[in-house]
Amino acid sequence: MLSESSGTTRNPHITVIPVRQAFGAEIQGADLRTIDPDDFSSIYRAWLDHSVLLIRGQILTDDDLIAFSKNFGALDLAPIQETGRRFVEGHPEIYVVSNVMKDGVPIGSLGAGEATWHTDMSYLEQPPKASLLYALEVPPAGGDTYFCNMYRAYESLPQELKDRIAGSTLSPPDKYLLLKHDGTYNSGGYVRQGITVVDDPMSSPGAYHPLVCTHPETKRRVLYLGRRRNAYIQGLSLAESESLLDELWSSATREEFLWHNRWRVGDLVLWDNRCTMHRRDPFEATSRRVMHRTQIKGETRPSA
Ligand code: SIN
Repeated sequence: MLSESSGTTRNPHITVIPVRQAFGAEIQGADLRTIDPDDFSSIYRAWLDHSVLLIRGQILTDDDLIAFSKNFGALDLAPIQETGRRFVEGHPEIYVVSNVMKDGVPIGSLGAGEATWHTDMSYLEQPPKASLLYALEVPPAGGDTYFCNMYRAYESLPQELKDRIAGSTLSPPDKYLLLKHDGTYNSGGYVRQGITVVDDPMSSPGAYHPLVCTHPETKRRVLYLGRRRNAYIQGLSLAESESLLDELWSSATREEFLWHNRWRVGDLVLWDNRCTMHRRDPFEATSRRVMHRTQIKGETRPSA
């Protein structure tokens, strides 16, 4: 349980306790099965302000998770899992993240290994707006999920690097650098269904987005990196692109921009996919971890 800080806000029902200055908050006093419009608008405001919310102690069926998620916008159907399975029978919006095997077949994605830093499905022209991850079974150790604040990652860059990647105020718009977000591999290193492996960042499949984007609701600027593997900055030689990306990645993922969750059963974490990245620690393969996720459809293309 977090102690209250000076940033704590309350409405009659729920309390918002920032984890750190402007990144991550815990919501207390909410039962997501019976949320009313006032509580939802406080949660939505907190989510925009803090980018990642943790709501503990929830008891949710898949229908409850779907119903709460729909407050944020239309839902995506779950992405195809590594096994080729599409979704949970009867609940096409639920994506299972799990290492558990049933009849020799994984019931979900990502196994027990590390999931590397990523923004969900940024290889699409219009990536999802948000994701909600609900813990049904958690391992006794490991499997923590880390989030990175991409507003701070951008704001902390030296001015000359900002000008180089986003153009200075005097530059024409074509000075903005575009980054290719690879669609070959998922964050667990598995090849996506139906994709032929291409390990050349210059020719692998994916979508180009500006390296610096403006959040469509908060209007703040973010560094939009997506994922490192097979990433490529348009117009640069491969060596230049790799070197600039290495510099940006090592600056963005500094400890001071991170928050992480040590999962408990009943935790729901929801993140703003437009201004965060996340990664997951590995855990013991003999432990069980079962998480159900929903995804809110993107409403806009990432834009400078
Ligand atoms: C994900 O990347 O969506 C899954 C994160 C996790 O398993 O904690």
